[in-house]
Formats: sequence, C-alpha cells, structure tokens
Amino acid sequence: MQKHNQLFYFFTIHDAARFKRHLAWDIAPVVASVAQLSQVHRQPLVALNIAFSHAGLLALGVTEDLGDSVFAGGQAADAVQSFNEDTASWVPQFVGDAVHGVILLASDATHLIDRQVFHLEATFGASMSKVYSLPAAIRPGDQAGHEMFGFLDGISQPAIQQLHKTPLPGQNVIDAGVIITGATGDVVDTKDNVPVIRPGWAVGGSFLAFRQLKQLVPEFNQYLLQNAPAGDGSLQARADLMGARMVGRWKSGAPVDLAPAADDPELGADPQRNNNFTYEHEGFNLSTDQSHCPFSAHTRKTRPRADLTSLNISDKPNSIMRSGIPYGQEVTPEEEASGTTIHERGLAFVAYQSQLAKGFQFLQQSWANNETFPPKKTPAEIGFDPIIGQAADGKARLVAGVDPNNTSATLSMPQFVISRGGEYFFSPPISALRGHLSG
Ligand code: HEM
Repeated sequence: MQKHNQLFYFFTIHDAARFKRHLAWDIAPVVASVAQLSQVHRQPLVALNIAFSHAGLLALGVTEDLGDSVFAGGQAADAVQSFNEDTASWVPQFVGDAVHGVILLASDATHLIDRQVFHLEATFGASMSKVYSLPAAIRPGDQAGHEMFGFLDGISQPAIQQLHKTPLPGQNVIDAGVIITGATGDVVDTKDNVPVIRPGWAVGGSFLAFRQLKQLVPEFNQYLLQNAPAGDGSLQARADLMGARMVGRWKSGAPVDLAPAADDPELGADPQRNNNFTYEHEGFNLSTDQSHCPFSAHTRKTRPRADLTSLNISDKPNSIMRSGIPYGQEVTPEEEASGTTIHERGLAFVAYQSQLAKGFQFLQQSWANNETFPPKKTPAEIGFDPIIGQAADGKARLVAGVDPNNTSATLSMPQFVISRGGEYFFSPPISALRGHLSG
C-alpha cells in the first residue's frame, strides 16, 4: 500500500455473529485488491486490509487446520521458544490471546485514516473493540523510504514468477506459492507424513508476520562512532563504512558487495543495478572473502544468494515479501547529543509468506540468530546478524567480519533492535471475507 501513513489497528471480537455480518457487508467490499494496489492511480484514498490471528479465527468459530503450526501456536509462544525472547519487553497487549486480528489502514492523510476508524468503530459497535494500535509513517524529506537507522529499505523483494513478467536484475524469481497459500509451489505442514490440505476458502491468502521492532537509533549511531575501524577517512566516514558493512548496503541503498569502499548514491538509486549482485567475485574465494561484504551482514544473512546457491541449496523457498513502515518520531537533538533513546521509534515489520516456518520464523531463527550461518565459511564463527540477531539470555551477541581491516575480529555488540512483540496473522482472500469467514 504505497501511502505515506499507515495505522495498524488490533482488535478483539466480542460478538461473532454481529462481527461476521459487518465483515461481509462493510469490510469485504472495501478491502483493497491486488489489482487496485498495483497501480498507484487506482488506489483508494484509504487502502484497507484485514487479517486474523489463530485466536481470532477460533473466536469466529473457524477451527480448521490451515496447515501452519507456527501460526496456530501464536507469536508469543514462538518468540520465547524459537528466538530466546523475553515477553517482558513486549507491548503487553501482544501477550495472551486478546489480539484477534489487525486492520491495516493506509492513506496519504492521517485525518482520512482517523475518519475511517471512526466509521468502522461506529459500524461494528460492540461486536469488536480496539486492543492496541500503532501509527506508522514514511519518514520526512530525503529520508522517505529509509528505515530509522537511515538506510534505504524496500529495495530487494522477490519477484513472483506468475505475476511479475519483467523481474529486475538480481531479483529472486519465486513461485507464487512461496507467498500465497495454495498457489503453485506452496508447501504445507505434514501430519503423520501426510501433507495437510488447506481448506478451499484459505487458498489465495497469505500469512502475515507482524513485529513491532524498536530501534535504538542514537545508541546505534554512537556505537558506530566509538567502534569505527581505523583508516584514512574522517571518523564519520569510517563509522558509515562500519554501518554499511553491518547492513550490507550503504544508506543510499548501494550494496557494499558492489561498492565496498564508499557510498555510491547513483548505484543505490538505480533499480537496474542496485540488486544485481551475488557476493561472489572472480579471483576471490567465496568461502573466505569478506572484503566486499561481511558474512554476517543483515542482507547476506537474510538472503545469502551465492553462499547457498553455490552449495546447490535454493534460497527461494525462504523468501518473504516485506511491507514494513517506520513508526515513531525523528531523533531529537537531545537524543542525538546524549546517545540515548527517549522516544520509542522503529520498524512496524510486516512479512508475507505461505509458511511461517520457512519464511519469517526461519530467517530469524535459522539464519539471523545462527552464529555459523552462512555455512562452509572460514572462519566458521560468523556471529549474529548485527541488525536483528538475538543472543540467548545473558550470552554475548558476537558479530564477526564488520571491521574491514581485520575480518576475523569479533565484536560483542549490544542489541540495537528490541522486539516489542507482535502476532502471526492469516490474511484471507477477499472471497473468504464475504464467504466462509462471515458464514
Ligand atoms: C533487507 C533493515 C528487520 C529481512 C533490509 C535492508 C535494510 C533492512 C536497510 C536493505 C534494503 C533492501 O534490500 O530492501 C532492517 C531493519 C530491521 C529489519 C532496520 C529491524 C528494525 C528484518 C527482519 C527480517 C528482515 C525481522 C526477517 C526476519 C530482510 C530481508 C531483506 C532485508 C529478507 C532483503 C535481503 C536481500 O534480498 O538482499 N533490511 N530490517 N529484516 N531484510 Fe531487513
């Protein structure tokens, strides 16, 4: 939804019968379709979508197995078990079963979102109520499209073979079923070695992983200045180099794999070139070379490209469609000067996939939090993803490779991204909103 502002409106259902009537009559007709969203001029003034948690489907009396056990277990249980997370740092509303669903509202004007919320609340009456909401917005001025640490985001997305006929150079071309349930290439859970058949109404949907990820921006900036690698450039230039090596891209979006020494804003802005790299270079050994990009860099951990394909492992089934947006205010001069966050800000992270265990959950647990991923590297101790990697309680968050002068050096890094929790949702096809879910 290519709009400036977005509201994540989390609700709980009190009266299923009444809620279902409004779902069919008032929500289904206004949910923005893919066709509407793919052309900016066809987008409604307020684009709206709705998705349900497992608890929400149960509240509607829907008990069928959707073929995704991670979804069924909910995010709080998964985060504790799979990511060593402590829900003490979570927004309390995300702990427990109260969040039954989320309505996503996007518009260029916040007053239009407010008006739509007013209208929805009046329509649904006491059949549902708000549990929590998170307003988010694209950053102002030249930071538009950049996440809160300052890096251009939303560059690398997979291209869906059946939808995108002209993928950009370097885009990962994947089957629709990696993102959309029941489409070609979809994989479901198995029970007793038999694949679960997704119910017919759930075909054409997608699982939505929502995370409120708090970013400690002044702390991140200060850390880079204090730990900048030695070299000829100014302190700021050396700090920027370290930040770029942690992300895998410069702030302009230019990949360090193609521009290892300095930012190249023209490259960053060129969609024909800014995603066209593999981490492999002629004359360099893929299993030892970190001169272009550290093995631990965020983009490399979350899409390892040649690190896996050279081992005949496909990285396609583990693709996600990202649709996050920053939340919170800009860093104030007081915060910048003190190096301490006063006002919470971060990323309202949204990822779509047809199977959470292969998408978001896998990327976080098996890649970002895995100290020896990517595999078959020397040194084998790569450490955590410096942006999103989470160490077990009390363990140091070791990150290797970011110092270009000594790529074997390991740093014990504080965490700059703190999970404030979230939930797993199923975003149903519009037909199900009118049909099965409101029946
Ligand atoms: C790419 C920032 C959380 C998965 C990126 C990029 C940035 C970024 C700046 C490069 C732009 C691009 O290639 O589109 C952040 C920040 C996060 C965050 C600041 C937290 C506050 C996550 C999480 C995941 C994730 C939680 C999944 C577990 C990815 C993926 C890519 C990416 C798959 C694309 C990699 C590629 O295809 O090369 N992120 N991210 N990110 N991120 Fe994140």
